[in-house]
Amino acid sequence: MPPLPVLIDCDTGVDDALALLLAARSPSLDILGVTCVAGNIGLVAVVSNTLTVLDAAQRPEIPVAPGYDRPLLAGFANSEFENASHVHGEDGLGLPDWPRSSRPPDPRHAIDLIAEILAVAPEPVTLIALAPLTNLAGFVQRHPALLPCIARIVSMGGSAFSGGNMTAAAEFNIGCDPEAAAVVYNSGVPITLYGLDVFRQVTLTPAEVDLLEGAGQPWSPLLGGLLRYVQRRFGQAKPGLGDAGTVAATILPETLTIHPHRVDIELAGTHTRGMTVVDRRVASKDAHHAAPPNADVAYAIDARRAARLFVETLVE
Ligand code: BDR
Ligand code: CA
Repeated sequence: MPPLPVLIDCDTGVDDALALLLAARSPSLDILGVTCVAGNIGLVAVVSNTLTVLDAAQRPEIPVAPGYDRPLLAGFANSEFENASHVHGEDGLGLPDWPRSSRPPDPRHAIDLIAEILAVAPEPVTLIALAPLTNLAGFVQRHPALLPCIARIVSMGGSAFSGGNMTAAAEFNIGCDPEAAAVVYNSGVPITLYGLDVFRQVTLTPAEVDLLEGAGQPWSPLLGGLLRYVQRRFGQAKPGLGDAGTVAATILPETLTIHPHRVDIELAGTHTRGMTVVDRRVASKDAHHAAPPNADVAYAIDARRAARLFVETLVE
C-alpha cells in the first residue's frame, strides 16, 4: 500500500507531540505539511514545539505553518481565551528545559499552506485535526472550491457518550472554538469524530514506556521525557496517548467501531456551548426523525492494537 497523504493540524501540546512522532516515523503516512493553531498554549509556543518534535523525529523537511492565534470570531487577544497549560505545562511539552528548534517556520499562513498543497495533490488528502478547528474553518470559508481535494477529516474532538473535559458538555478542541467546529461540521467534507469515548482508551503499559525510552533512537529521549511527564502529571503508571490515538486510527481505521450520525455543534447555553450533539435516533423507533449523517462517530477502539502500532513504529 502506498503511504496515505495527510496534513496535520495541531496545538502541540504533549499528546500532539506523541501524535507527531508516530505520524513522522510511520511508513504508512506521507505528511505533506503541518499547520499550527493556538489551543493547548499560545501559537508561538505551539509552532516552536512542533518544529522541535519534527527535528527529533528526523523530519525537518516537513513544512510547519502558523495559523490562527485566537478563535475564529474572537475579537480579543490570545491571552483572553482559555488554554490548557495546567495540563501541558507552561511550555506545552512539560519539558521547559528541552532545547527548542532554531528552524524558522514556513512563511505561509496555515490556510495558504493547506490550499497550495491541496491544489496540486494528485489524490484527495486526509486532514488529521488534533486541535481547535479554527484553521480548518478558516480554510473552508476561504477555499470552498478546494473541499473536494479533502478525502476526510479525522478530528479529535467532542464525544458521543462521555460529555466534555473543558466543561461538563464541551471537549477542549470543540469548546475552544465552537463556531469553527460548526463551520467544519457543516462543510460537507466526510468527518470521523474521534472523541473522548475513544481518546481515553489508548494507553501504554509501564514496560512499553521503558522500552520506548530506552530504544536508542534519535527521538527516544524526547519521547521518554513526554511519557514520563504524562505519568507524573496524571499519576498514571499507564500513560494515555491522547492525540496519538487519532493518528493510529488513521493508519489503522479498522481499529475503530464507527456509526454514521448527524453531529451538530451547540453554540449557545451556559452549560452546553461547545457540546457535540450526536443524533443517535438512527438506532431507535424514532429513526425516521433522525437527520442525515454528516460524520462517522467512533464508539470504540481496539486500544491495544493502536498502542502496539505506536510502540512498534517508535522502537524502530
Ligand atoms: C484535546 O485537547 C488537548 O488538550 C489535547 O491535545 C487533545 O487534542 C483533548 O480534549
Ligand atoms: Ca491537541
